[in-house]
Parts: sequence; structure tokens; C-alpha cells
Amino acid sequence: VRMFVSGRRVKKWQFVQLFATCFILSLMFFWEPFNNHIVSHMKSYSYRYLINSYDFVNESLSLKRSEDGAPRYQYWINHKEKCQAQDVLLLLFVKTAPENYDRRSTIRKTWGNEKYVRSQLNANIKTLFALGTPSNPLTREKLQRKLVWEDQMYNDIIQQDFADSFYNLTLKLRMQFSWANTFCPHAKFLMTADDDIFIHMPNLIEYLQSLEQMGVQDFWIGRVHRGAPPVRNKHSKYYVSYEMYQWPAYPDYTAGAAYVISSDVAAKVYEASQTLNSSLYIDDVFMGLCANKMGIVPQDHVFFSGEGKTPYHPCIYNKMMTSHGHVQDLQVLWEDATDPKVKTVANGFFGQVYCRIMKIVLLCKLTYVDTYPCWAAFV
Ligand SMILES: *[C@@H]1O[C@H](CO)[C@@H](O)[C@H](O)[C@H]1NC(C)=O
Ligand SMILES: *[C@@H]1O[C@H](CO)[C@@H](O)[C@H](O)[C@H]1NC(C)=O
Ligand SMILES: *[C@@H]1O[C@H](CO)[C@@H](O)[C@H](O)[C@H]1NC(C)=O
Repeated sequence: VRMFVSGRRVKKWQFVQLFATCFILSLMFFWEPFNNHIVSHMKSYSYRYLINSYDFVNESLSLKRSEDGAPRYQYWINHKEKCQAQDVLLLLFVKTAPENYDRRSTIRKTWGNEKYVRSQLNANIKTLFALGTPSNPLTREKLQRKLVWEDQMYNDIIQQDFADSFYNLTLKLRMQFSWANTFCPHAKFLMTADDDIFIHMPNLIEYLQSLEQMGVQDFWIGRVHRGAPPVRNKHSKYYVSYEMYQWPAYPDYTAGAAYVISSDVAAKVYEASQTLNSSLYIDDVFMGLCANKMGIVPQDHVFFSGEGKTPYHPCIYNKMMTSHGHVQDLQVLWEDATDPKVKTVANGFFGQVYCRIMKIVLLCKLTYVDTYPCWAAFV
């Protein structure tokens, strides 16, 4: 009787397994979007890791004449003198839209605050908000007047006369690199960041100061996307046609939400950006193409976040560099994360053990959350 029962159990179990396998296979083969997704990732990964002999940037992306690619947008608001005659450790660009006054306002009080960095961290940074012009014709004039007023208050906006929109982000990137090269080529590092991000300035500045002492070059760090495939789904915000980009994978690039480069990289990327067709509007991918052309590769930093928010915990604050998706909670997170007490939490043997355990608990989850990777708990 027993054998009979267990035999039945085995059969039942096998049936479940068989069913699950069929289900997954049918999902893969018959459900188009899923299938496309898997196949495009497999294609891009094999391209990236197996073939890896491509010239990403061949003539098809290069401009015939360099003047084709460099439409001269004029500055409506500028601060040529911002960097003059001073040592600048970090030139920080924040990509922001004209209507995001509140976000800029919080950033001025938190991680973008030059005075805080000078007095508390003993470093010189320059923060600039990068904007195009308001694109909605109904509110354009009013918004522009507000921007001019805002800039008179704070002197930290640069604006060119292209329409500020998602599809013009590459123009915004060009503006940043062009500004850096023209008005601030001596800044040791350049960072570009979204306006919904948190940057742990004390940790970042400490890191950059140590790199500066080593005289680091060819430096480009952030959250690296390796072998990412172009999105070929016409309904996606990130859709890229074959005409625009023909290969199955992008060159490695760092997520546009926040990355840091050294001044030599800034100069090279600027040079390349003038010879490439900028119709590819995904700005971080465009940056990747420019860097690829100049032979620069990005490095991954485990404490530069992906799409997700970091877990709120002192043991994380102790190490974090950036975290994505903070608007309402930015001020509070800033106060908690930069509290001097945070620095003491991992002190001593027990502090270290405690933080190691907490980081494993917080970061090594079975369900995927796009924040810091599990191995960040072990570095
Ligand atoms: C660029 O590379 C692609 C793919 O390798 C190739 O099909 C195309 O002919 C190349 N274009 C030029 C102008 O070399
Ligand atoms: C980008 O900016 C240009 C120049 O202002 C404008 O003509 C174009 O419509 C903008 N593109 C988008 C998609 O907004
Ligand atoms: C850039 O590429 C697009 C295709 O994505 C093409 O239509 C356009 O003419 C190119 N621009 C220049 C200046 O070559």
C-alpha cells in the first residue's frame, strides 16, 4: 500500500513538473513580448560576451561633416564666470525640467549645496542646473520668467534654446559637455545627475579626494549596463529604430541617473560627441557611444543605485553614493544619512559584524529589487 501511495505521489509530482515545464515553454514560445524580451537579451548578451569583435561606432553613426552634428544652440541663461580662477574638485550638473522648481529647491538645501561642501567637507564643488526651454506653448512665457527670477536668486542655472523634453536629452548632454569644456575644463571631476536622485556628498567627496591624490585618469564610474539591447517595441518610451541604431547591443554605459567622470574623459567625450549623430535621444547610451569611440570603458560601483531606492538604514548610509527616486523624502533622507552618528555605527568589531548582517538582510533578497546588489554587503 505504501509503495502504491508513494508511486502515485511521484506520478502526481511528475505531472506537476511536466505541466509547469509546458507552461513555461509555451510562455516563451507563444507569448510574443516575453519571447522578444528573452531573445533580445540572449542576442545582446551573446553579442557582448561571445562575438565582442564589433566596431560599435563605425561610419554609419558618424557625421559626414562635423558641423552637421553641432547645431549651435544659444544660451538664454549662462554663468561663464562660475568656475573661473578657482580649484574645482567636482563640477556637478543636475538635469532638470523647467517646472521642477521644488526639486531644485530641495537639492540646493541638500546634496547640491556648495557652501555645505566647502565648510563641512573642505572641497570646492560647482552645481549647475541644466535646462532647455519650456516646451508647452501655453505656459512657456510664465515659466521662463520664473526661471529667470530663480536664476537671479541663486545664479546656478544654464539654459539653451532647445525645447526641454525627454527626446532632447542628448542635446542637454551636449550642452553639459560643451559648457564643461568651454568654461570649466580644469574641474577634476564631472558628474551628471537626475533631479530625483539622492547623492551622499560626504561619501562621494571623500572618495573623489582620494582618487584625485592618486591622479586618476580614464575614470568613469556609476551603475554599469553591460550588453543592454535596444528596445525595439514601438510603444516603449525607449524605442530605438534599426535606422537609428542597427546593432543588437549597446556598448557598456552607466545609467544616466548619476555617474562621475574625470576631466580627461570629459574632454574626450566632448570631442567624440561632435562627430556622432545625436538623433539617438537616450542620453546615457549616447554617452556610451562617445566613450566607446574614444576607447573608454565604464567601471561599476556597487553603491551607485539602479532604478530602486536604497533601504533606509545607517549601515547603508555609511557606504552609499547615490540612490534613485527620492523627491518627497529627499530632505529627511539627507538629514538621516549625513548625520555624524552614521559614521560610528560600523565602528569596532561588533559594529562591523552588526553592519555586515544588516546589509545581508537588507540587500540579499530573493525577490529582485533594483537597488544595490547583494555583493555590496561584502565589500
Ligand atoms: C557598420 O557596421 C555594420 C555592422 O557591422 C555594417 O553592416 C555596415 O555596413 C557598417 N557601415 C559602414 C558605413 O561601414
Ligand atoms: C528638441 O529641440 C528642438 C529645438 O528647440 C525642437 O525643434 C524639437 O521639437 C525638440 N524635440 C522634441 C522631441 O521636443
Ligand atoms: C542621423 O541619423 C538619422 C537616423 O537615425 C538620420 O535620419 C539623420 O539624417 C542623421 N543626421 C545626420 C546629420 O547625419
